[in-house]
Amino acid sequence: MNKITITTPDDWHIHVRSGQLLKTVISHTAKRFKRAIIMPNLNPPVTTVSQALQYRDEILHALPKTSDFNPLMTLYLTDTTSVKDIHEAAESEHVHGFKLYPSGATTNSQSGISQLEKTYPLLETMQKLAIPLLIHGEVTDSDIDIFDREKVFIERHLTTIIQKFPALRIVLEHITTKEAVHFIQTQPQHVAATITPQHLMFNRNAFLVGGIKPHHYCLPIIKREIHRQALIAAATSGNPKFFLGTDSAPHLKHHKESSCGCAGCFSAHAAIEFYAEIFERAGALSKLEGFASHYGADFYQLPRNTSTLSLVKENWDIPSAYPSDEHEIIPLNAGQHCTWKII
Ligand code: NCD
Ligand code: ZN
Repeated sequence: MNKITITTPDDWHIHVRSGQLLKTVISHTAKRFKRAIIMPNLNPPVTTVSQALQYRDEILHALPKTSDFNPLMTLYLTDTTSVKDIHEAAESEHVHGFKLYPSGATTNSQSGISQLEKTYPLLETMQKLAIPLLIHGEVTDSDIDIFDREKVFIERHLTTIIQKFPALRIVLEHITTKEAVHFIQTQPQHVAATITPQHLMFNRNAFLVGGIKPHHYCLPIIKREIHRQALIAAATSGNPKFFLGTDSAPHLKHHKESSCGCAGCFSAHAAIEFYAEIFERAGALSKLEGFASHYGADFYQLPRNTSTLSLVKENWDIPSAYPSDEHEIIPLNAGQHCTWKII
């Protein structure tokens, strides 16, 4: 197949930052996606509806004039989030979920939850008001190996949350293991997961063999090949519980290429193209539209997009860097070529 046309996709997990970085990255997403779930891990975090609306305005102002891109906002769940905050969020047409970061799990998660049990009254309210809970599913206990953090989170915490709140709508974000795939498959329909392009494209050898590749470092960390295979099978299965979430997470080059580099891969410049290549290689291009354009909207109870996006089989070169003021961001697969191109 040399051309595909799909319903315009949405990105159900992205970091677009603020200020100059936002201005640098947002057009890449707006060119490919109609909507995106905007992660709230700014510093300080987005914790209230009024902050989310202010952030949404900043995003809208950073967009190219002709863009009809719609940012879908989320709030950051903290130890001080109140039941009233949940009610306000549920009433806002622009807020679509709460993001739970275990404290210390990832970039800007220092305001995250210190003890999951403390959030139970909030989860109760979210369940009642049918507002989704988006989870960074990793434990941060120092005795747990970084490659096991997701698996242990599922065993120790997610199972309990689902038992206690059986109607709560949950997205386990950026899953990375066969255990997570299996877990999601065996849960009710309103428990779903997003999958990133980097976890579908790379295993930990690509990240660590022949020299460390800081631009492949993200959290949850990239795992063994057996896990990548399980993720590809899930994404291309046509099961609506698995949908697109790039987790595109831009950091300036010098913050990644450092003795203590930041976690996050920037993939917005070629996100849908990467997924097209992955699905094509798996012999499952016909399953791309469901994963990229239908299942996420269905989960969030939003209408599917009515416009379309076309891609052609044509090589193009990914730049070695994108400038951002006097700095630069290194895109995923910098300097290599993409085999699909958006029209
Ligand atoms: C994200 C970021 O940089 O904001 N980083 C990452 O490695 N994925 C945060 C996150 O989603 O964990
Ligand atoms: Zn993320």
